[in-house]
Amino acid sequence: MAEDVIIALDFPGESETMAFLDLFHDKKPYVKIGMELFYAMGSDAVKEIKRRGHRIFLDLKLHDIPNTVKSAMAVLSKLNVDMTNLHAAGGSKMMEAALEGLTRPDGTRPLLIAVTQLTSTSQETLENDLLIQKPMAQVVSHYAKTAAACGLSGVVCSPLEVRDVKAACGNKFLTVTPGIRFAGGDAGDQVRITTPEKAREIGSDYIVVGRPITKAPDPVSAYERACREFLGK
Ligand code: C5P
Repeated sequence: MAEDVIIALDFPGESETMAFLDLFHDKKPYVKIGMELFYAMGSDAVKEIKRRGHRIFLDLKLHDIPNTVKSAMAVLSKLNVDMTNLHAAGGSKMMEAALEGLTRPDGTRPLLIAVTQLTSTSQETLENDLLIQKPMAQVVSHYAKTAAACGLSGVVCSPLEVRDVKAACGNKFLTVTPGIRFAGGDAGDQVRITTPEKAREIGSDYIVVGRPITKAPDPVSAYERACREFLGK
């Protein structure tokens, strides 16, 4: 069920990011901090954006040996983000270790979700580059089921895969869906895309919207349009 619109803060540094957030005044959109901003600003990005009152999805897509991911997640758990993620391709041992690392001594933890296949990956890339000779939908559902079995809260996937993921893992298993474009918008490098309205119909829980908002002539109106179309308000 449509929960919220998350803006991908894909900016190269602090000044661009804060100037963008200032446009929203008292509105505090849920935001995603990805590799670009995190590598530029480090954990200061998280601290400053939290201080401003935003919820944060920290999108660092961890993928390494279980022990390294566990230790890295233990560090991230201290940043007080609301959601973070890893690649399901790292396997179940890595996902279990991640969950352990992310769980604070008091038992609380941010939501942990898994990337199934990137929304920029086509069937052709899956077969020719990754040597996975299965339909995308089947690969995504399998990765989602593995993540659910490890105790994760949901997956990042294309809206086009939400129905399959919910059928495989149950309705409460969260689907966070990038690859969102307004009707008539530019797809850029995304392949498996849909509109905010369609994402709602399909049953996405959160949509992640980057360039259609950050590169819009009026980002606040573009955000409001995404909310109207996705949340119906
Ligand atoms: O600009 P755009 O709307 O394409 O941004 C989508 C955001 O979602 C980017 O930050 C990208 O890294 C992220 N993402 C994605 N596909 C995934 C996981 C994350 O596009 N499977």
